[in-house]
Amino acid sequence: MKIFYSFEKLNAALNKRRQDKKRIGFVPTMGALHMGHLSLIKQAARENNTVVVSIFVNPAQFGPKEDMKKYPRPLKNDLSLCRRSGVDFIFLPDSKSMYPRPYSTFVNVEGLNEVLCGSVRPGHFRGVATVVAKLLNIVRPDVLYLGQKDAQQAVIIARMINDLNFPVRVKVMPTIRENDGLALSSRNAYLSGKERNDAVVLSKALLLAQTLIDNGQRQADRIISRMKQLISKKRSARIDYAGIVDLENLMPLKKIKPGCLIALAVKIGKTRLIDNVVVNQGRFSKQRKPCPFKYV
Ligand code: PAF
Repeated sequence: MKIFYSFEKLNAALNKRRQDKKRIGFVPTMGALHMGHLSLIKQAARENNTVVVSIFVNPAQFGPKEDMKKYPRPLKNDLSLCRRSGVDFIFLPDSKSMYPRPYSTFVNVEGLNEVLCGSVRPGHFRGVATVVAKLLNIVRPDVLYLGQKDAQQAVIIARMINDLNFPVRVKVMPTIRENDGLALSSRNAYLSGKERNDAVVLSKALLLAQTLIDNGQRQADRIISRMKQLISKKRSARIDYAGIVDLENLMPLKKIKPGCLIALAVKIGKTRLIDNVVVNQGRFSKQRKPCPFKYV
């Protein structure tokens, strides 16, 4: 496994791989890797001859009230996980090289940026789309691997790729969960023992929604209100949003339709967690295939 700090050197190494007709799979990350990231890396290793992972805590996606300095950076552990999971190249740029001064160009995926998480984290997805566009230009992979846990991010990136004609395929892989259903996230590390137990309520609420749908409920507002009732039973939980939306344009739906997205953002204590399911994708435990997102 080779570590690159500059895009010139990464480019030279990747050009050589391209000349040798090697397929390149790419997993962008902000580090603090967990089994969710590793599942993307392993999928990339199965399907490509070269796997590139970027580790970059992207300042452009943190709001003024979000503390980027607190973001976990266990680099040594991340590198050893990557080494053991079949990564060929690590790209470790710094902020100065990613955002040289003066810097003026940002990618805004209009209409998708402002809803769900975008409504409470203004500017967040502009930062995500910008850095991913830059990373795609630097790495020029054949396939980009994203996790379904960040479903809105995946929808936005897939739309950007389609709109701006990036020559890359996207694969959105299922969320990896703890045995009790909690979706893996770097933020779970911030939870106290009691909060960790309470956090299971997100996946429980999504399972409740699936059960209601299986039993014939089609009214989105009824499902949302039952999910909210369940979550509100936990005193540590404060709901940011619970939404049922179209997977293509993220607009709220009145009635459930196959393939729609049920998404949640809930603060457990001070930690904001997100989770989601795609209706008719199958129960959590059975999900193994890429999520059927539009453009993917
Ligand atoms: O999901 C993440 O870790 C980040 O948003 C990403 C895609 C690496 C962009 O910084």
